[in-house]
Amino acid sequence: MARNLVGLDIGSRFIKAVQLTEEKDTYSITQYARIEIQPQEPIPDALRGIFESNNFQTKRVVTSVSGRFVIVRYITMPVMSEDELRNAAKYELGKYIPFEVDEVIHDCQKLEEVQEPTTPEGEKEMRVLLVAAKRTFIDEHTSLLEDAGLQPHVIDVDSFALGNCYELGSTLNPEQQDRNKLIAIIDVGATKTNINIANATTSYFTREFYKGGDDITDVLCKKMALEVKEAEVLKRNPGSEISRVSECIAGTIDDICHDINISIDFFENQYDRRVDSILLTGGCSQTVGLSEDIERTIGRPIVKWNPLENFEINLDDEKKAQLTDDMPQVAIALGLASRIRKD
Ligand SMILES: Nc1ncnc2c1ncn2[C@@H]1O[C@H](COP(=O)(O)OP(=O)(O)OP(=O)(O)O)[C@@H](O)[C@H]1O
Ligand SMILES: [Mg+2]
Repeated sequence: MARNLVGLDIGSRFIKAVQLTEEKDTYSITQYARIEIQPQEPIPDALRGIFESNNFQTKRVVTSVSGRFVIVRYITMPVMSEDELRNAAKYELGKYIPFEVDEVIHDCQKLEEVQEPTTPEGEKEMRVLLVAAKRTFIDEHTSLLEDAGLQPHVIDVDSFALGNCYELGSTLNPEQQDRNKLIAIIDVGATKTNINIANATTSYFTREFYKGGDDITDVLCKKMALEVKEAEVLKRNPGSEISRVSECIAGTIDDICHDINISIDFFENQYDRRVDSILLTGGCSQTVGLSEDIERTIGRPIVKWNPLENFEINLDDEKKAQLTDDMPQVAIALGLASRIRKD
């Protein structure tokens, strides 16, 4: 029987919802919607609107959280069983979070065994992913969804959703054989940028920093004396004003590129491994000059990622055109829905 799951990415400017349907080990995109959040509209009303105006087959949703109440750490621990890890993680947690242990909910996952024994006793070690989130923050998030009449299924983290989207996509494409290929996925949104460095199965590094499209709009407003709405329009279609726009936003774009460069550099030095490919996504990734500036700063080519490329799309023509148009904004929602495979 077909199963459905909706990945719901509640961004700071846009809400994106992608429904994946699993049937006999095939996955297809069977519903899609994107809305721009209106300043005065409560989020539950916006969410209810999305589900009332579009024919989603389920209200079971996977969403994500991010920000300073969500802590992601990659730690090393002695090799132990999953059960032992679960117990040990509770005690380790306190070392890594800026909150009291009983204020958070947490999860942990064994990643891989470290090849060389690194403890003085020669004990084998493994890498572990530890995620903790402030309980009150998760409760508020869950309430938003329940107020909208939705059924929260899993709450994920934005960076992992990017990795899951890549992972399911690469599983669907037999040509994409190299499961060890190391990729950096970069999502530049409105208020933040997320980076996940991973191969097709494991995430090695994630980072989030708070710069994005809103900063570019702000600088245009200031330097060109525009209203936010006008600056948004000009940013997306600079037309004959392109050189003036490029000049005004150059410093802000440089800041974003600098932080991306630092993250990749840090990872490569820490792990002594080179990232094979850099994939760029997120609404702000379309800003004129951004991808070229990242290429220049990092000194290697980047790919404007099409997260849809390996997925079957089962939508009417209008929806399909809309999804294709919105392609830079849908990776996280699609990655959240990709959890259907691990259910
Ligand atoms: N064609 C375009 N050119 C430049 N910027 C664009 C374009 N289209 C959208 N944007 C910008 O992309 C941003 C929205 O992208 P996205 O939907 O990825 O963000 P979000 O998920 O709502 O935000 P966040 O992830 O930071 O919470 C806005 O800043 C918007 O101005
Ligand atoms: Mg986003």
